[in-house]
Amino acid sequence: MGKVKKILVTGGAGFIGSNFINYILSKRDDYFIVNLDKLTYAGNLENLKPVEGKNNYNFIKGDITNNELVDYLFRRFEIKFVVNFAAESHVDRSILGSEIFYRTNVIGTTVLLEASRRYHVEKFLQVSTDEVYGSLGPTGLFTEQTSLSPNSPYSSSKAAADMAALAFHHTYGLPVVITRCSNNYGPLQFPEKLIPLMIINALNNKKLPVYGDGLNVRDWIYVVDHNKAVELVLENGKVGEVYNVGASREMKNIEIVKLILKKLGKGEELIEFVKDRPGHDRRYAIDSSKIQNELGWKPEFNFENAISDTIDWYLQNKNWWERIISGEYQNYYNEQYAHRFNKN
Ligand code: NAD
Ligand code: DAU
Repeated sequence: MGKVKKILVTGGAGFIGSNFINYILSKRDDYFIVNLDKLTYAGNLENLKPVEGKNNYNFIKGDITNNELVDYLFRRFEIKFVVNFAAESHVDRSILGSEIFYRTNVIGTTVLLEASRRYHVEKFLQVSTDEVYGSLGPTGLFTEQTSLSPNSPYSSSKAAADMAALAFHHTYGLPVVITRCSNNYGPLQFPEKLIPLMIINALNNKKLPVYGDGLNVRDWIYVVDHNKAVELVLENGKVGEVYNVGASREMKNIEIVKLILKKLGKGEELIEFVKDRPGHDRRYAIDSSKIQNELGWKPEFNFENAISDTIDWYLQNKNWWERIISGEYQNYYNEQYAHRFNKN
């Protein structure tokens, strides 16, 4: 076993962060993980059952904007690596109210960067998104050279965090790396996002609200492929660099929705085209040749199999999502969707 890496993982109770911790601790015993998560509506300790009780795992409930707490954790656990997943992550919520997005995503990241500087971390990995590049026309791909042009409060807050991270590298030599990944799918995704929302509505015979004309394109990647890229960039990524991550699987939203209905044996009459998302980005598509050529990463999961497995996971884990949608989620759903269904 190599030297133990003491890693602060933030937002590890959310969708991608919990998949990361479960995956990484199932295969590595040279990682010691402190998971700092505020447990917002999106954070769920049930997601972390596989690692509960492991002696190389610690959970701390807390906010990344809390300077004193963050400082204490770096000192107490001798943190040398940071993987910053913590964020407000949903575009539609950022349109309803942006403040918490800038607070967590921008201020929270700078609190972590400052602590990383004080405690001389060996690597700071900022988990970013392809949405910082804005929107594409019908052709072309986002490369790491594409200029940042974020369009929503969410994506602008992520772009600001990226700029802060790169500025800390440039100014202080902080060993920062950034990953920018496309749309993830897989188990444990909160049902506000397209794929789980459509699966759950279809299972409940509720209308499936497709925004606008349904022809917006997203580039889908299985969450484990994303997390393998995060692991590789943490281990071997060159400091000061940005790595795009994507599996080259572009799909129109309406295609995804129809595929879900087909797999569930439900009819297309459940689909309803509703009022569009304001400022809705038309198309995302990632060129991931840099991480493939320089670090040897490549996506391993085939879309057809992995989406089937994901749908099966939601079928087999009704307890998980029924608990979520029976709580505060209903208020969110009404606020987000009531006006959309009455578009005419
Ligand atoms: P998520 O909303 O499922 O989880 C976010 C987690 O962060 C939750 O556990 C929440 O409790 C925690 N959190 C929120 N505010 C916090 C705070 N102030 N302090 C501590 N913890 C806090 O999000 P996700 O989809 O898992 O995304 C994780 C990261 O990956 C985000 O940074 C997001 O921008 C990025 N990302 C997501 C996708 C995607 O498709 N979901 C794609 C690319 C990048
Ligand atoms: O590209 C990476 C980003 O992907 C991440 O940075 C974000 O955290 C993540 O939320 C995701 O953003 P999107 O806005 O692309 O994902 P979402 O699942 O919200 O929507 C996907 C597409 O589906 C988008 O074009 C909007 C559409 N949509 C979404 C919902 C929730 C609908 O048509 N109806 C819906 O009800």
